[in-house]
Amino acid sequence: MSSPTVTLNNGVAMPLLGFGVFQTPPAETVAAVEAAVASGYRLIDTAAAYLNEREVGEGIRRSGIDRGEIFLETKVWISDYGYDATLHAFDKSAAKLGVEQIDLLLLHQALPSQFDLTVDAYRALEKLLADGRVRAIGVSNFMRAHLDRLLTVAEVVPAVNQIEAHPYFAQRDVQAADREHGILTQAWSPIGGITFYRDGQLTSTLENPVITEIAAAHGKSPAQVMLRWGLQQGRSVIPKSIRPARIAENIDVFDFTLSDAELAAIDGLDGDVRGGPEPEQITLAAFGREIPEA
Ligand SMILES: NC(=O)c1ccc[n+]([C@@H]2O[C@H](COP(=O)([O-])OP(=O)(O)OC[C@H]3O[C@@H](n4cnc5c(N)ncnc54)[C@H](OP(=O)(O)O)[C@@H]3O)[C@@H](O)[C@H]2O)c1
Repeated sequence: MSSPTVTLNNGVAMPLLGFGVFQTPPAETVAAVEAAVASGYRLIDTAAAYLNEREVGEGIRRSGIDRGEIFLETKVWISDYGYDATLHAFDKSAAKLGVEQIDLLLLHQALPSQFDLTVDAYRALEKLLADGRVRAIGVSNFMRAHLDRLLTVAEVVPAVNQIEAHPYFAQRDVQAADREHGILTQAWSPIGGITFYRDGQLTSTLENPVITEIAAAHGKSPAQVMLRWGLQQGRSVIPKSIRPARIAENIDVFDFTLSDAELAAIDGLDGDVRGGPEPEQITLAAFGREIPEA
């Protein structure tokens, strides 16, 4: 299996479907990344804050696939925001990953109460882009207001906004803002993973009868249906798993098509309940953590 690519707003090609490693313990990350590459994934999404960049790099090297064939994406944590601090954050991530160049570097969150620091961090991304250290830059968890503020001062429009987007929380307003600006929406928790950790309030998306019925009709799994829903609506999706069978299952989504009615039925599940932290409330005091040197 392999994923089709999408052309980002700066002309760089990126696989539409990739592999996530949030909460993948470092000890399991090398094997997971190796399994993903063996299954055909060519986009890997990590973050400095996941503390597994070293193992992601090792997994890619062990996969036997040329570095140039892998699209590597990572994120700068808020504790490293500021022009010089963010340039140094690149050095830390590149050294841990064992690469000279990162394909896509994102700001992991906006810092709404210290937006000047967020802008300084973004200017560092623009510098890294101009210097060829990264091939594309973007943001994550930016709401419409954050994008508007950034775009009044940015020289480079972010290529990607990575946001929580699954059937129970689709953030259509943010997706629309992304579209208006030519920014690709990349869905985190694309099969609703963030909702699995919560107790009792929602049944897992994997057991939702609307999704399981559509899955049965296509002879596919609920996870595959949710990924297909995201892809058909133009989002990049980056499912995470540590299990080789699921890793292979999650990229096996290019041999069926959901009907408009099926897409609409899944759209109808949106409960507008956020699983992740509220982006407006991200502060250094609450979420700051030191990102170790390489
Ligand atoms: N930018 C951000 O703030 C942010 C936040 C969260 C996530 N992310 C990124 O997005 C990626 C994906 O999000 P996520 O990990 O939160 O959620 P997800 O990919 O929607 O779901 C992952 C969960 O689903 C399970 N799973 C995976 N494939 C499955 C399948 N085919 N059938 C049944 N269960 C399956 C996994 O368990 P097993 O591993 O045991 O299979 C795991 O518990 C992350 O890894 C990370 O790269 C970014």
